[in-house]
Amino acid sequence: MQRERVITGNWKMYKTIDEATQFVTTLSSLIPEKEVKVYLAVPFTAIHAAAECAAATNILIGAQNMSDVSEGAFTGEVAARMLKDAGAQFVILGHSERRLFFQETNSFINKKLKRALDENLQPILCIGETLEEKEAGDTESVLKEQLLESLEGLQDSNLVKVIIAYEPIWAIGTGKTASAEVVQNIHAFCRSVIAREWGDDVAQSMTIQYGGSVKPSNAASFMLEPDIDGLLVGSASLDPIVFSQIVNYQN
Ligand code: PGA
Repeated sequence: MQRERVITGNWKMYKTIDEATQFVTTLSSLIPEKEVKVYLAVPFTAIHAAAECAAATNILIGAQNMSDVSEGAFTGEVAARMLKDAGAQFVILGHSERRLFFQETNSFINKKLKRALDENLQPILCIGETLEEKEAGDTESVLKEQLLESLEGLQDSNLVKVIIAYEPIWAIGTGKTASAEVVQNIHAFCRSVIAREWGDDVAQSMTIQYGGSVKPSNAASFMLEPDIDGLLVGSASLDPIVFSQIVNYQN
C-alpha cells in the first residue's frame, strides 16, 4: 500500500507576513519536485499571503487551529470556511500546546475534526503521551483513548483524509526524541487500533507522522521506518535551509 508521505512545518506563533512569504520563496527554490508532500502550518495572519506565494509551488499552506462551529457570535474565533477562503488546505488539530494551554479535550477536538472535514479542510490530528504517562507504562492506553475519542463517529471515507501526528509531549521542543524503532512500534500500534475499529484497509491507507525534536540529522532515520509516513516539525521548520534539509532527507 502506497501511503501519502507528508512533512509538515508547524511555525507556532512565529513569523509576520513578510517573513512568511520570504520563507516560502526560499524554501520552494530548495526543494525541487519531491515525492513527499510539503505542508506549512502558518499563523492565521500569514495564511493568505503565504498561500498566494505558494500557489505555483508544491508547498501547501494550512492553519494551526480553528473553531469547532461554522460561524456565529464567538469573539476571536476563526472558522474553517474562513481558513479555506484565505487559502488554507489543511489544519492542525489537538496539538499538545492546545490541549495543555487551552484545555482542549478529545471530544472538543472531535467536533473540530468533523467540522474541518465538512468544510473540506484536511485535518492533522495530534496525539501523544506526557513523560509521566510514558514512565507509568501508559503510552498505549493514552494513545488509544486519544485516537478513539478524537476520531469517534467518522466514516471510512473521511477517516482516510485525516493525518495522524504522533508527538510524545516530552520530545516537543526538548531536543529529546524517541528512537525511530520505538516510534515505528508506536505507529504500528496506532494503526492496529484504527484497524480494529474501522478495518485494515482504512488503517493501512492513513498517513502517520512523527513529531518532536525532528532535525536534519534524525529525519532520515524516522522516514526509513515502514509505518512512519511523515514528520511534524516545530523549531527546525523556522529556517528554510534547515527545513529544506529535512524535506530533502534522502540527499
Ligand atoms: P519541535 O516541535 O519540533 O520543536 O519539537 C514539534 C511540534 O510541536 O509540532
